[in-house]
Amino acid sequence: MTPLEVLISELIATDGPMRLDHYMGLCLGHPQHGYYVTRDPLGREGDFVTAPEVSQVFGELIGIWAAGAFVAMGEPARVNLVELGPGRGTLMADMLRTIGRVSPALAAAAVMHLVETSPVLRTRQRQAVGPGASWHMTLKEVPQGPMILVANEFFDAIPIRQIERRRGLWHERVIGLEQGRLARGLSGPVLGPEGRDGDVLELAPARDVIASQIGQRLSRHAGAALIIDYGHLTSAPGDTLQAMRRHGFADVTERPGECDLTSHVDFQALGRALTEGGADILRPMTQRDFLLAMGLEQRFQRLELRADLMVTSTLRRQMARLADENQMGNLFKVLAATSPGMPCPYPFGQT
Ligand SMILES: C[S@@+](CC[C@H](N)C(=O)[O-])C[C@H]1O[C@@H](n2cnc3c(N)ncnc32)[C@H](O)[C@@H]1O
Repeated sequence: MTPLEVLISELIATDGPMRLDHYMGLCLGHPQHGYYVTRDPLGREGDFVTAPEVSQVFGELIGIWAAGAFVAMGEPARVNLVELGPGRGTLMADMLRTIGRVSPALAAAAVMHLVETSPVLRTRQRQAVGPGASWHMTLKEVPQGPMILVANEFFDAIPIRQIERRRGLWHERVIGLEQGRLARGLSGPVLGPEGRDGDVLELAPARDVIASQIGQRLSRHAGAALIIDYGHLTSAPGDTLQAMRRHGFADVTERPGECDLTSHVDFQALGRALTEGGADILRPMTQRDFLLAMGLEQRFQRLELRADLMVTSTLRRQMARLADENQMGNLFKVLAATSPGMPCPYPFGQT
């Protein structure tokens, strides 16, 4: 048993079965044994690889997007450049380098704010972006003001609930104990919408709260947010909760605190929460369409000009990983939100 499994088992023995969002929150964020608190899980030697770790081009193109958003905002004298869940800080470092080249005005106006709960990853981020950033536990701590916000693979790590329909009634999916080990189970009936037997619905109240806070900030001050994650554009029943360890799948109850737990992001629900907060949302697109529109192929072609055969083949693999339909290209979606009435930052809103 992992130390966290012992702790969770004791909690369940005292308080009864626990909702999935509570379980996921402990597994990922427990102050001593949480998955993100105790390690840097990114990279080939970790549990998963994210787009900024695949290629610098990802962050460069988002830096160009941020420069466009800054123009659409009317180039305020100061702007909070906020990232939620910055991992190793690679995306922000690549963005900053590009912003420095393409938009000296944004480079001068930007004040960096990183929202990160993991002490291990904060250290990595400091190494990547330097000491000029402020770190926060939640978005609420970031000062109010004009803002450009990015979040890549952040919302998939925010805990979810699941309810399952059996014989005409919805039941909360919970984690309980069976012969002293963690096991999945169902609670008594809970309220839910119309549905069919066997349906599983995912609800993400914690995600909705953060998205709504982003929306509120965009409604008060000029700004834009770019949210990238794997998920679906339209809400639909389905169980997408998954546990990952060393690049392979594990059971959700296996080795708590040592597996990454994530779920697909429901972009329709996220968009609704952003709008309810007061932001305009722009029609989301796939990561493939976004990166191609931002000049992915042209940027890789330039890098190839200086590359030998081996590097060229690596560059081509990286580009395919980011944008091919059967790799990250279609599974990942990109959603932008802006202050109400602001011009759409390219490439959103193009027909
Ligand atoms: C899957 S990693 C993505 C890292 C990075 N954005 C990237 O693309 O490489 C998730 C990140 O979100 C952070 N994180 C997870 N839950 C968080 C929370 N509730 N508040 C702030 N950061 C959180 C993790 O520590 C990690 O930095």
